[in-house]
Amino acid sequence: MGGVNPYLSRPAARTAARLFRVVVRGRADAIAVDPADLPYGRDGEPGSLLDILLHHGVRLDHACGGVCSCSTCHVVVRQGGASCNAPADAEEDMLDTAPGLTPQSRLACQCVPDGSADLEIEIPGWNRNQVREGDH
Ligand code: FES
Repeated sequence: MGGVNPYLSRPAARTAARLFRVVVRGRADAIAVDPADLPYGRDGEPGSLLDILLHHGVRLDHACGGVCSCSTCHVVVRQGGASCNAPADAEEDMLDTAPGLTPQSRLACQCVPDGSADLEIEIPGWNRNQVREGDH
């Protein structure tokens, strides 16, 4: 899916300017992100965690297509969160609907790292869809 929510203003974010890594807990290899390759796709803000994760084969639900209208892309940024844009009011409002909220919770589609630090993220266990349909 992908696109833009016409009812919300886009979050203020700087895309990455240098190479950085994203470690996803439970995944053996770190993801190396080269800013020259961003954005990868159409889901989420350009250069967002959702964009990065999907491109690198990490399955993360994103029911609204990355337009800040659900909370299925909830992730917890355990390290490096200061290198990401601050959550906008719309993201915080939507996060309030997510179970298991933590102070480091973000919507992956709205969270855009600037590349100044490596990130470690966790996809909450309850957020892993074990009965997902195959790719179409
Ligand atoms: S995919 Fe719906 S809020 Fe991120």
